Amino acid sequence: MNDEIKKGLLGIVVDETTVSQVMPDINSLTYRGYAVQDLCEKCIFEEVAYLVLNGELPNKSQLNKFKKELDKNRNITINLREIIKHMPKKSHPMDVARTAVSVMGLEDKETNNNSSEANMRKAIRIFAKTPTAIAAFFRARKGKNVIPPKKNLSFSENFFHMCFGKVPKKEIVKAFDVSLILYAEHSFNVSTFTARTITSSLSDIHGAITGAIASLKGPLHGGANEEVMRMMNKIKKPENANKWINNSLDKKEVVMGFGHRVYKSGDSRVPTMKKYFKKVAEITKDKKFHKIYDIVEKVMIERKNIHPNVDYPTGPTYHLMGFDTDFFTPIFVISRITGWSAHIMEQHKANKLIRPLSKYSGEKYRKVLLLNQR
Ligand SMILES: CC(C)(COP(=O)(O)OP(=O)(O)OC[C@H]1O[C@@H](n2cnc3c(N)ncnc32)[C@H](O)[C@@H]1OP(=O)(O)O)[C@@H](O)C(=O)NCCC(=O)NCCS
Repeated sequence: MNDEIKKGLLGIVVDETTVSQVMPDINSLTYRGYAVQDLCEKCIFEEVAYLVLNGELPNKSQLNKFKKELDKNRNITINLREIIKHMPKKSHPMDVARTAVSVMGLEDKETNNNSSEANMRKAIRIFAKTPTAIAAFFRARKGKNVIPPKKNLSFSENFFHMCFGKVPKKEIVKAFDVSLILYAEHSFNVSTFTARTITSSLSDIHGAITGAIASLKGPLHGGANEEVMRMMNKIKKPENANKWINNSLDKKEVVMGFGHRVYKSGDSRVPTMKKYFKKVAEITKDKKFHKIYDIVEKVMIERKNIHPNVDYPTGPTYHLMGFDTDFFTPIFVISRITGWSAHIMEQHKANKLIRPLSKYSGEKYRKVLLLNQR
């Protein structure tokens, strides 16, 4: 037995996947063989969601059918809506999202059916309903009425509609769509691996996605997009940025939105997202965060040679779109449900219980003394 420890499973290949490929050497990320940059420019998010779930890009009639399926499944039950309305207002929306998917599992007639067909139906239901649940909390915690989904709006348009009661300019919707495309899938990251681990005991998709959401919440993973915004708010104005980031590095602090376990010379998703962040900044006539972005990025690369990851541009982009900071990671969730679901289905198809070993470093063998002898 090889008892060498690889903390954090660093560099360990644990299984195969056909869902996506991360190639850090050539700075590339593909979903089912298609480069994400290409998908961002040529597709809407629903096409990419279909691709991630089914393995192929849809033709027109397949896309229309998929959109109709989503429309049909977007409503959440009155029960779930009431639960969301009664959740503590201070709850983190990620905890609300996790609980909502868990409740969907209680309500779903096929929860215990792990066949490929049932899993695909459940994946579509979770994918369609989760944005509705998240948007319901977005409004309910502010004492506002919950807005139901509207037929014939796109996935992204519907999310804006349910959160704000209106759909913004098409350029803003496109930037949001692009962020969802970039967030949809990223191989064996922490939350996906969590989902696959849960699945490996032959547990159900609702449970696996509930666990994945809990995993994504952490600031070293999806929660980083929220932390980026908190950092930018602390910096306040571009004139402070240089000093702020240098101080932070002097204190050896971890700067959120930078660094990556796999990409060491830049995250392949960043140039595309940065381009759309800039567009949103121009439309909203708010260039402050863009200037802070550039200064912090420059210092991080010059001093540490550490590049931004995709959470760095998405954070301020969502802020400029009007979303509350603690809703940034739930937005990540509504997209990544596609990647998680694809991996859960892949795990079911060729399952092997995930059960690593550990090296024991606790007390040596001890004799139990009776209570009155201790
Ligand atoms: C993502 C992350 C966890 C990857 O970590 P990892 O592969 O385990 O790499 P390490 O944390 O061991 O980092 C290697 C070195 O770079 C430094 N480093 C990595 N990311 C850093 C960051 N964001 N800010 C400052 N220093 C960083 C580490 O301090 C470490 O330095 P050391 O060797 O002097 O101790 C890490 O980069 C990080 O914490 N980033 C911030 C959170 C974030 O943005 N997460 C979203 C990821 S998509």
